[in-house]
Amino acid sequence: MTLLDSARDARSRAIATYSNYRVGAALLAADGSIYTGANIENATYGLTMCAERVALYRALHEGAREFVAIAVAAEGLVTPCGACRQLLWEFCGDIDVVLDGRTMKLGDLLPDAFDRRNLR
Ligand code: THU
Repeated sequence: MTLLDSARDARSRAIATYSNYRVGAALLAADGSIYTGANIENATYGLTMCAERVALYRALHEGAREFVAIAVAAEGLVTPCGACRQLLWEFCGDIDVVLDGRTMKLGDLLPDAFDRRNLR
């Protein structure tokens, strides 16, 4: 089972009540552990949580700190939203982003990112 397969499997557990746009994510940690997530929507809309951040927060909460790749699956090609790019960059660095049919580097999706180095 590939990382993208894990993301596709996670997608089946999306709670996309309002948009009906289901997204799954699978985040691979350096020790080989995989943390999955799917988008979770709610009636305020704005408090919706993306699949990528569900996976990231699950991983961080479980103690994972080093990451290799994240796969994201939806109906057709989906790329992480800006907020997710920012958070993935801060906590995961320049990981591979595995999409349907292609793999990119996170740094190419978020060039010249603001991060903790700017605070020094
Ligand atoms: N969504 C994600 O979960 N990840 C993305 O990369 C793009 C968007 C979700 C948020 C919302 O539940 C739905 O897709 C429509 O925007």
